[in-house]
Amino acid sequence: MPDSAVDPVDTVTEVPVAVVGAGPAGLMLAHRLGRAGVDAVAIDLRGREEIATTHRAGILEADAARDLVETGVSDRILREGHEHGGTELRFGGRAHRIDFRELVGASVWLYPQTEVFTDLADARERDGAAVHFGVRGTEVLDVDTDRPRVRFTAADGTRHELRARYVVGADGSRSTCRGLVPEPLRVRYGTEYPFAWFGVLVRAPASAPELVYAHSEHGFALISQRTESVQRMYFQCDPDERTADWSDERIWATLQARVAGRDGFRLVEGPVLERSVLRFRSFVQEPMRWGSLLLAGDAAHTVPPTGARGLNLALHDVKVLAGVLLRALGAEGEPALADYQPLALRRVWRAQHFSSWMTRLLHTAPGAAPFELRRQLGELDSVVGTRAGRAYLAEQYTGWPTSA
Ligand code: PHB
Repeated sequence: MPDSAVDPVDTVTEVPVAVVGAGPAGLMLAHRLGRAGVDAVAIDLRGREEIATTHRAGILEADAARDLVETGVSDRILREGHEHGGTELRFGGRAHRIDFRELVGASVWLYPQTEVFTDLADARERDGAAVHFGVRGTEVLDVDTDRPRVRFTAADGTRHELRARYVVGADGSRSTCRGLVPEPLRVRYGTEYPFAWFGVLVRAPASAPELVYAHSEHGFALISQRTESVQRMYFQCDPDERTADWSDERIWATLQARVAGRDGFRLVEGPVLERSVLRFRSFVQEPMRWGSLLLAGDAAHTVPPTGARGLNLALHDVKVLAGVLLRALGAEGEPALADYQPLALRRVWRAQHFSSWMTRLLHTAPGAAPFELRRQLGELDSVVGTRAGRAYLAEQYTGWPTSA
């Protein structure tokens, strides 16, 4: 045990659940528990402002959108979000709409992760719950016992200890909590991709009514939206690409080339407000539970952003986990926790498959043979050219029912 594990602290708080990570997964879990009368304290290394301005994906499944409203987080999504009944695939220089409503009776909501976070952080504050942003020196201790502890230094320099019954690691793709599972028990599955996304925020009106996922011989591009005057776009790039090498002109020329086609489609251009390179991979760690520690969201699994599964998956994890934790803290006790992993993992692996399939379907691997490009076009044609193909994409993209 490290010496610091017994150093004096300024406060000791007994709380049923300590949550490491106050992004959307951690806060939604704490919110769900709070609604059922169970306190949860969440902490995060990052400041509130930093999380609120870290741009991530923008698509929520209809179930996740409804949950934000029905669990009393906020109904802002209904006023400021945009419901999309379909999406567009562009390839071979032509547009092909996938009509989610007609194919599977579902839709998705364009509502950026930054807004989901803001709604959750506001709701926690409104409900008088404890969330500590900008903490340092976090130590998660004794997760192999039924008295786990979390110690941390708050932003004001005071030192605190949470004495919990359960600790949830919702600390994102660079999770330290997942490293607490003893090495011989940890199984890590994953794969890397030979490309990344160059993401930009631009000041311009929308170029299309819905999202456009574009395949081209030059590589992939995604045209998404944010507000009436700000849009989000991405194009496939080398993982080592440097943003400094990309002028506005070069960015627009790249994007335009990737969406160009016989129909004359062009993006409406404007100043680039922000640019970043987003690396990604597919990753799953099992088990998602060890002792009194449970992992949720990106801490346990990450997916490539194609298909916008990551946030939805994290919100599904915590929906299942909240139910399981409430049972475990109630009459059933610890055995209830055994249900978490099987219920969460089924959707995790479906999303792993879908995200990696959609990524490979739309990106061009560096140095790929001409055969591969033509084969991809054949695959794309069989997706959009058959009702079964379109319905498959629509069903996966709009999400699956919650595991009971
Ligand atoms: C986004 O709007 O940032 C976004 C949308 C769909 C994706 C990924 C990112 O698949």
